[in-house]
Amino acid sequence: MHVLVTGGAGYIGSHTVLQLLQDGHEVTILDNFSNSSPEAVRRVNALSSSKAKLLKVDLLDEELLKETLTTVKPDAVIHFAGLKSVGESVSQPLKYYRNNVTGTLNLLDAMDSAQCHTLVFSSSATVYGESTALPLLERTPRSATNPYGRTKLHIEEMLEELGASDARWSIANLRYFNPVGAHESGAIGEDPQGIPNNLMPYVAQVAIGRRDKVGVFGGDYSTPDGTGVRDYIHVEDLAAGHLAALEYLKDSSGVHVWNLGTGTGASVLEVIEAFRRVSGQPVPYEIVERRPGDVAESYANPEKARLELGWKAERGLEQMVEDMWRWQEQNPRGFESGDLLELSDDELAEHLKPYLVTRKEDGPRGDID
Ligand code: WQD
Repeated sequence: MHVLVTGGAGYIGSHTVLQLLQDGHEVTILDNFSNSSPEAVRRVNALSSSKAKLLKVDLLDEELLKETLTTVKPDAVIHFAGLKSVGESVSQPLKYYRNNVTGTLNLLDAMDSAQCHTLVFSSSATVYGESTALPLLERTPRSATNPYGRTKLHIEEMLEELGASDARWSIANLRYFNPVGAHESGAIGEDPQGIPNNLMPYVAQVAIGRRDKVGVFGGDYSTPDGTGVRDYIHVEDLAAGHLAALEYLKDSSGVHVWNLGTGTGASVLEVIEAFRRVSGQPVPYEIVERRPGDVAESYANPEKARLELGWKAERGLEQMVEDMWRWQEQNPRGFESGDLLELSDDELAEHLKPYLVTRKEDGPRGDID
């Protein structure tokens, strides 16, 4: 298939693009680089015998977006592009509604004009709000506790109503739990701008010496060690979930939803401990005030994806931390640093040869019928 990937230069997008290429798909990436780097795509293409095309397009540029979709004529779209900082969404809600909701509306219009009605949407477990009914099921009632989460919820509801109004649409809402880790090569990974909001990249930056210590947001939760428990999922497992959903949509119209989590929770202190083991660094921390809006525990029931998609997460916390640490060590300041940046395209491909994935012999996996 020819898959158009919005936000494909980003963290989860770049890992998914690499797996799409490996799986024999043709890939075109749209990205506005507001929270990503073209360098990530350069490295993805160095890791693959077939290459993704990269176009700088902002989803708020309706004309260019429509022009691009009718030119590219994708068979399917995977939609990652969106702002995702909970904190920033509270201080700038309209920026989040405009970028995430209006951007998605523009994309859906452009897809319709290009006769493309197959969409995989990057949703989030944040749509479960502060639900304490664990493990979280796809039928668990949804709610929003911040503007970012509300944009994801609104988009899911828009897609449900679109699917009900027009049987041509095949849509998958994928609810991510906590994406972490990096490709085994260490060449691509999570490169947050500024101070990381999320735990793992923050711990990685403490381990590499960019930050002094981890502030543990609350040590008095009703959890085994008093710190927050989350369902961390390796970004490579998450990427594989997108390919499984795409495969499912080839033969299924309507709107579908799946949790993409491991079903296992890990606490903040367990994450810090794992980083100490893997990195050999002290990783100091201090228990501080709880972060407003945090729940004590959140983890998935991933059964529906296993039964319907034949997908389940394969990688445990240790590998998540090992792969994250390798990326962080090789790229102390993300894509704007590290030795790989200095290499030419040919030198980069040579350096990454041990990890090169070749396109499946049978070529593209056929069009959406
Ligand atoms: C994990 C745990 C914190 C930072 C968020 C978004 C969610 C999704 C994933 C986009 C919690 C604790 C964190 C720190 C800490 N993003 N923590 N010190 O909050 O589960 O989910 O990211 O889709 O929408 O809400 O992830 O990594 O921020 O926090 O103690 O410096 O680590 O309290 O228990 P979260 P997180």
